[in-house]
Amino acid sequence: MAIVELTNVVKKYGDVLAVESFNLTTTEGEFVVLVGPSGCGKTTTMRMIAGLETVTGGEIKISGKNVVGMIPRERDVAMVFQNYALFPHMNVFGNMSFGLRLRKLPREQVERRVREAASILGIERLLDRKPKELSGGERQRVALGRAIVREPQVFLMDEPLSNIDAKLRVEMRAEIIKLQRRLGVTTFYVTHDQVEALSMGDRIVVMSKGKVQQVGTPKELYQNPNNLFVAGFIGSPSMNFIRAQVTDKGTVSAGENFNVALPGQLAEAVRSKQLREVILGVRPEHLRLVGNGQAENPIPGVVDVVEPQGSTTILQVSVGADTKVIAQVNEQWGRQPGERLQLSIPPDAIRLFDPNTDERVAA
Ligand SMILES: Nc1ncnc2c1ncn2[C@@H]1O[C@H](COP(=O)(O)OP(=O)(O)O)[C@@H](O)[C@H]1O
Ligand SMILES: [Mg+2]
Repeated sequence: MAIVELTNVVKKYGDVLAVESFNLTTTEGEFVVLVGPSGCGKTTTMRMIAGLETVTGGEIKISGKNVVGMIPRERDVAMVFQNYALFPHMNVFGNMSFGLRLRKLPREQVERRVREAASILGIERLLDRKPKELSGGERQRVALGRAIVREPQVFLMDEPLSNIDAKLRVEMRAEIIKLQRRLGVTTFYVTHDQVEALSMGDRIVVMSKGKVQQVGTPKELYQNPNNLFVAGFIGSPSMNFIRAQVTDKGTVSAGENFNVALPGQLAEAVRSKQLREVILGVRPEHLRLVGNGQAENPIPGVVDVVEPQGSTTILQVSVGADTKVIAQVNEQWGRQPGERLQLSIPPDAIRLFDPNTDERVAA
């Protein structure tokens, strides 16, 4: 098992800063997910670790050895690509064994490793087939198999599931996690899908515009996002953001019917930063529907849109002239557009952001 260390890794393409000072040290056998919108630098980071792309600056170490300047083969990493990159004219055995044969491993060893990997992936009966005779999920397994047989120090997987349908994708996620746990190989996994990131990562690196926004466990990112970007990107439906005025009474206000008391420490933090205005963040699933007298300062609203999700319902609610919020409630059916209701925000669900810096105001 390997520790991978990236220190101030930078990639420029001419004037384009594709990756800006990336810093991360993995633990042995860690599953690290890189997530962010298209173009934020995920693939570039992976390719620099693999040695398929030079670095403009910084250092990459694998198991303590600086690999910058080494060719891909010397780095002992195996990459799984989004498009699988299988050879169409070779059968599954040929594809899986290709890298080993290139390295001139003894025949028996090649045979053994391929059969073992095929057995782990449940594709033994497909070894004689050509890629075009396989389903998307099977091709994906072959691509994984080709990485596994290498027995590398590090797996690099770049959106390996983006070409397969939603249901199979959920199954394959679980399979990849099980496989990674079983093999214990330190893994970097790229996705643009925050749900996938939350469900798979030991730690998640959230990127935007070439910059690491936050590194943390799924729980840390969900509960305490560092800034507005991470807060809005992680979680679905997205966190509500409401511009609010700070009052002298330790509350924030967005219109006359929208007053929220801040927990003591948060009120203190706002005071010490002398903020007059904040962005109040609250997740849709944390908003409560309350009856009369059930909450201190209920927020009256009118339902605009009702979106039943089966197990829950998403409501778009107007809470003032130009403030709308999304609430996800534990009810199945029965809400109607036009309905009046009251919302409340539990104090521990309140997150505040500084509108000048976009950073979270920490209590
Ligand atoms: N070979 C290249 N030449 C010039 N610009 C590139 C090259 N590869 C990537 N980029 C740019 O670098 C940025 C990051 O790209 P990439 O790492 O592919 O993003 P992601 O994988 O997160 O979608 C983008 O702005 C992209 O256009
Ligand atoms: Mg990419």
